[in-house]
Amino acid sequence: MLIPDALLHRLAAARAVAVLTGAGVSAESGVPTSRGAGGFYEGHRPEDLASPEGFRPDPVLVQRWYRHRRRLVREVAPNPAHHALVRLAALVPRFTLVTQNVDGLHERAGSPHVLRLHGALMESRCATCARSADLDAGPDDALPVRCTCGGLVRPGVVWFGEALLVDVLEAAEQAATTCDVFLSVGTSGLVYPAAALPGMARAAGAFVAEVNPEPSVLAPHLDAVLAGPAGVVLPALVAALETHRAHA
Ligand code: OAD
Repeated sequence: MLIPDALLHRLAAARAVAVLTGAGVSAESGVPTSRGAGGFYEGHRPEDLASPEGFRPDPVLVQRWYRHRRRLVREVAPNPAHHALVRLAALVPRFTLVTQNVDGLHERAGSPHVLRLHGALMESRCATCARSADLDAGPDDALPVRCTCGGLVRPGVVWFGEALLVDVLEAAEQAATTCDVFLSVGTSGLVYPAAALPGMARAAGAFVAEVNPEPSVLAPHLDAVLAGPAGVVLPALVAALETHRAHA
């Protein structure tokens, strides 16, 4: 995988690097992307289930979907893309990892201080009293899972139409607008406010590159495109940077 010289030189000189990841970074772990073929559940699109409007009329279906996703995530492992980002963080003075993913694979790979814009799949709470509650409790045929207060248990993720955690979003925007290099990895760039980050970085003077086997809608904000799977591109990027450093 050839890494563009312009990106390599900007990375080598960078004081601050920010990375935004989407579902594509977990694709090679076997986690379906949101808009790829595997994203549907029993014929439903994620955006139809991952919202208060989807949960309220059919909590059993939504709970079943999240229990299915939690079982799947327990069975998969971080892939070379996740591990490459851990290595990259050690090569730059200031590194910020922002993710739209809720699978926890960055943390399992060893990335510290991940800014999770959309929450965490493996956390769950009562939708009424907000106390922590186990979404995996009991068998599927006893759904819906309820809190001891009687409220329905929901996953600890940010649903469509819900506000992101302000402090997490502000930290992500701060990282995007103060970095020298911004990498967008494995995201279609369709969901805001995460999708605004690459444009914010570019407007603030960062060199913006995308890692994606397919072109995304972020094209107008990009200085470079690394067209390939993150599990191949990111290890190659880190290896090239380590070699560049060794010969500097
Ligand atoms: P999408 O499914 O919209 O986009 C995944 C992107 O990953 C696509 O652009 C693919 O081309 C790319 N891709 C696929 N395989 C890849 C690989 N091996 N390496 C690199 N890229 C690859 O997922 P997101 O952009 O993450 O929101 O979706 C954003 C948000 O929409 C999600 O966080 C979720 C979803 O509904 C919430 O949960 C609120």
